[in-house]
Amino acid sequence: MGMIRMFSFIGSGAGDVSHTKELSDRLAQALSRQAELRGETVAYECVTADRLRISFCRSCNVCFGTGSCPLDDADDMGDLKRRMLEADIILFGTPVYLAEMSGAAKCVLDRISFWSHRLELAGKAGMALVTASNNHGPQVEQCLRELLQLMGLSMPEGLCLQLHARPHLDDSEEAEPLIEDAATRLLDAQEDPAAHLTKLQELYWKGLALKTRRAMMQHYLFGKQVSAETQLLDERRIAAHDSFADYVRRCRG
Ligand SMILES: Cc1cc2nc3c(=O)[nH]c(=O)nc-3n(C[C@H](O)[C@H](O)[C@H](O)COP(=O)(O)O)c2cc1C
Repeated sequence: MGMIRMFSFIGSGAGDVSHTKELSDRLAQALSRQAELRGETVAYECVTADRLRISFCRSCNVCFGTGSCPLDDADDMGDLKRRMLEADIILFGTPVYLAEMSGAAKCVLDRISFWSHRLELAGKAGMALVTASNNHGPQVEQCLRELLQLMGLSMPEGLCLQLHARPHLDDSEEAEPLIEDAATRLLDAQEDPAAHLTKLQELYWKGLALKTRRAMMQHYLFGKQVSAETQLLDERRIAAHDSFADYVRRCRG
């Protein structure tokens, strides 16, 4: 029996009474039940923003060059990143605040934005979870999903449930079928992440692969220095594949 590690970050300060955490927990329960039928078990961990000290990005750009952030030792971001990198499935949740994702969610995304230059989450599956009173939920879900997809994550469409409009979070007849369906799609993406990539992800990979090939050619032919990012992409042999789907297959080993 295989074990699926599922980690959830919820960008809400409401802690145990967070609606978005409730959505995450309900999805995790549905996914665990379905995984069991497929012969797998799920280890689920959920952290809300109030449990963490996460500083704002200071725009020093060190992460883009070196892959590490000087703030990680001073706050909880290093630990949060480690938990995300160890997971097979990443849930990323946020409430809608003033028509956008919460500041806590954006603060975490800013601190991992350099992962988009490295496709760091390739080979993992994920889902964006959003709760709102009654507006902007779908837009926030789509925005969150697209940002995480640029980091390489394989993501089916996520979940957005509301407190004062349909689909209601607390109306189980409305919410449960959506949650069950999301659990199935997420489990499918975890089983075969290469089959759950978007055209935009393929295009984005192509751009990175071309840039890497060109920089490495200039390095070997003319001795031109390459950036640490290019060096890493070259070491990971990112350009040595026919498509991003191929690279994702290799990431899964
Ligand atoms: C500061 C603030 C701003 C909010 N702005 C919106 C909004 O623009 N649109 C909306 O539909 N709901 C809005 N809400 C409602 C929350 O999105 C909703 O209550 C959500 O479920 C809270 O999730 P949480 O319990 O996980 O923090 C806002 C709530 C707060 C506290």
